[in-house]
Amino acid sequence: MKELIDVGNLPKHIAVIMDGNGRWAQNQGAARIFGHRNAIKAVREVTEGCAELGISYLTLYAFSTENWGRPEFEVRALMELLVQSIRNELPTMMKNNVKLDTIGDINSLPGSCQRQLAEASEATKDNTGLNLILALGYSGKWDITQAVKKLAADVKSGVLSPSDINEDVLAAQLSTGARPEVDLMLRTGGDHRISNFLLWQLAYAELYFYEDLFWPDFRREHLYQAIMAYQGTERRFGKTGEQIKANSAK
Ligand code: IPE
Ligand code: IPE
Ligand code: MG
Repeated sequence: MKELIDVGNLPKHIAVIMDGNGRWAQNQGAARIFGHRNAIKAVREVTEGCAELGISYLTLYAFSTENWGRPEFEVRALMELLVQSIRNELPTMMKNNVKLDTIGDINSLPGSCQRQLAEASEATKDNTGLNLILALGYSGKWDITQAVKKLAADVKSGVLSPSDINEDVLAAQLSTGARPEVDLMLRTGGDHRISNFLLWQLAYAELYFYEDLFWPDFRREHLYQAIMAYQGTERRFGKTGEQIKANSAK
């Protein structure tokens, strides 16, 4: 299926809500954490799939602000798994020229996670291929709130005038900074919701939901399937189909 993808029309930024680990495990009579452990292979598949195609940005929703409300042992297991997998995957990220970054309230994570993430970000910082962004302790409302706080502080200190605030000024303070907005968002697990993921940055994203696929079963073919659907969509950005066709014929 990969050869059917038009490499001249790739989404620049793909974001993924990796959902359904718990149900995947429970369906086999196993504990939820077994699903989280089996999610690592799917992360590798989507990352390598994007890197091979030449996608520039991949943002993975790995742990939301709301996920702090899960049972303590599940949260602890997720954090341990995060440290382990960042450590184990580092050589593969180097091999694939992947640059790792994080967004979210990173200070809310355990110290061991913060250190491992900082180490991997530092080690990969000069890589020039795929930008892999892990959303951790992240929520869209948190992101917009922290951006507004920074703007308010700048106004208070006199470096910014309220009349200078526009969409670009606000967007620059979001945790995604200068990265492009999301073109394509994927969600496994069968639910059709955003779950407080990138709210602003998803404004004009195409949304692709996998109805019968839990995250641990995600493979490159599923990525290709979503990109093909994306490429079959006319993105109009408020304009008419005629305008878009006239423009692309130029
Ligand atoms: C996604 O899978 C992983 C995280 C949210 C960390 P879930 O753990 O939400 O799995 P389900 O949705 O309960 O099946
Ligand atoms: C969204 O999944 C968050 C992540 C994938 C990290 P959830 O399982 O937390 O979402 P809800 O609660 O079903 O909306
Ligand atoms: Mg879930």
